[in-house]
Amino acid sequence: MTQFTTPKKPIISLIAAIGENRELGYQGKIPWHIKEDFIYFKKKTLGHVIIMGRKTFDSLLKFYKKGDQPLPKRIIIIITRNKDYQVIYKDCFVVHSIKQAIQLAKEKEKTEIFISGGGQIYEKGIKLADKLYLTIVKGKFKADTFFPDYSRFKKAIKEDKKESGGYRYSFLELKK
Ligand SMILES: NC(=O)c1ccc[n+]([C@@H]2O[C@H](COP(=O)([O-])OP(=O)(O)OC[C@H]3O[C@@H](n4cnc5c(N)ncnc54)[C@H](OP(=O)(O)O)[C@@H]3O)[C@@H](O)[C@H]2O)c1
Repeated sequence: MTQFTTPKKPIISLIAAIGENRELGYQGKIPWHIKEDFIYFKKKTLGHVIIMGRKTFDSLLKFYKKGDQPLPKRIIIIITRNKDYQVIYKDCFVVHSIKQAIQLAKEKEKTEIFISGGGQIYEKGIKLADKLYLTIVKGKFKADTFFPDYSRFKKAIKEDKKESGGYRYSFLELKK
């Protein structure tokens, strides 16, 4: 007898670093610099599909030399309303809505899709999310962009408290 297995759907996760007041960014930049958090982000997202807003993608490019591949070994889906926006990098795709981004991500990802900001994209993405990876940075920071309310995610499945570079923070994994 032929056995059919239902293909497993990838889960959707949001990954962000936030201050105690859910601060995310100020004038296009992240308000702190925590090297370990970049390493954590890399470890979690390597080999997966990442969805991000055009502003976050543009700010990410500032960390790379011209022509260097941003976030290597990951597929990046960039959301913009601008139909003329183009990217020259391998494994980077441009779409024009969250719905399109999720659809494309599901075609390319089997296990876990990461939404990595910024504020506008988290706001929409949190409604679709199964899981949150939050780096909670101790302190209050000047900010113009904030992470949405995440009080529906009540179940902490992992918490790892850290201290480095003059910051205290914890890596938190949450489910509903
Ligand atoms: N702390 C963290 O973990 C973290 C992570 C990521 C980002 N950030 C910070 O967050 C800030 C950027 O966030 P942001 O909210 O300003 O921008 P964003 O979410 O990165 O990008 C916003 C852009 O996405 C596009 N967009 C948004 N909604 C859309 C929709 N429904 N359909 C089509 N396109 C849509 C638009 O692009 P167009 O204007 O091109 O149409 C819009 O301007 C920066 O300060 C960054 O450093 C922090």
